[in-house]
Amino acid sequence: MDLELLIDRAEHEHVLTKDEITALLKSKAINEDLYAAADRVRCRYVGDEVHLRGLIEFSNICGQNCLYCGLRRDNTKIERYRLAAEVIVELAMKAKEYGYRTVVLQSGEAKCYTMDEMTDIIRKIKALDLAVTLSIGEKSREEYAALKTAGADRYLLRIETTDKALYQAMDPGMSWDNRRRCLRDLKELGFEVGSGCLVGLPGQTLESLADDILFFKELDADMIGVGPFIPNNDTPLSYAAGGEFELSLKVMALVRLLLPDINIPATTAMESLREDGRIVALKSGANVVMPNVTEGDYRRLYALYPGKICVNDTPGHCRVCITSKIEGLGRKVSSDYGFRQKCK
Ligand code: SAM
Ligand code: SF4
Ligand code: FES
Repeated sequence: MDLELLIDRAEHEHVLTKDEITALLKSKAINEDLYAAADRVRCRYVGDEVHLRGLIEFSNICGQNCLYCGLRRDNTKIERYRLAAEVIVELAMKAKEYGYRTVVLQSGEAKCYTMDEMTDIIRKIKALDLAVTLSIGEKSREEYAALKTAGADRYLLRIETTDKALYQAMDPGMSWDNRRRCLRDLKELGFEVGSGCLVGLPGQTLESLADDILFFKELDADMIGVGPFIPNNDTPLSYAAGGEFELSLKVMALVRLLLPDINIPATTAMESLREDGRIVALKSGANVVMPNVTEGDYRRLYALYPGKICVNDTPGHCRVCITSKIEGLGRKVSSDYGFRQKCK
């Protein structure tokens, strides 16, 4: 297989087969060419502006037990918290003052807010003229519909892996088919839908990562977040090797080649593995960053994995820090909401 030719075709036609993706993931010789092609596609389709989304980690309480995640319900080593509705809205107000046009409300998957509370929070934040992204896990179609009616614009729900057996081993008690159902419902209800995968789960193959990329294309996802799995000592996967930065970057770059007009974040996990990880990602296909706007000790308590960046920083510091990194690349922080501009 001529891998250079494959990159060229992906750059111009945005199509690759599973075998072709796998071959590109396997070879280390083409990495720089792959990143450069993804950067050109990013520039051509979504431009030089970088969209910032202010991330509010509003509760670390979780009823699920994903083997990889520090928030899993069996982890007794973390102190649990739940921010009051007024505090969440106040953080959104501050995010607006820092110049964010979108807030991402993220939490563990638990019923510690009623639907009425959640919809009320969304309505209050929408009244501030902010776009609202939710990342609060699996819900029924009716619940998603209520969140949409309240004004939520986007929803992030990573499929984590399209390998059903691996998914169900990693997420005991959860069903891959239900997660797929959630993504379908979210699409049908008119959310901008974000998904994504973890790279480097124990037992995951390059072929299954190729399936993940093709799944995102089939789903016609509006956003895709790709991040390395980082082992956490307080979880059953403490023994695992974890994901590699380079492989995560390659998966992300291939997503840009195949879904040219979508939003792709330079993920926090990438920078947690490598000091300039988000900058490298922004130069390899990414066009979004999600700086943390959670305040104080809650950042530390939202302990998904060790080495998470920004845990000791303030929202103000992160805003200045990320802006200077983006401008250092000759790029610009966008001042619009950053919805996907879909190409036909
Ligand atoms: N509870 C919601 C859910 O699972 O969709 C949202 C919050 S969850 C903490 C957000 C994402 O964190 C997950 O989709 C997962 O990919 C990522 N994550 C969890 N543990 C991780 C780890 N050890 N390394 C890297 N990413 C991790
Ligand atoms: Fe809970 Fe999400 Fe972590 Fe799974 S990934 S344990 S659902 S917070
Ligand atoms: Fe938080 Fe740089 S973005 S310290």
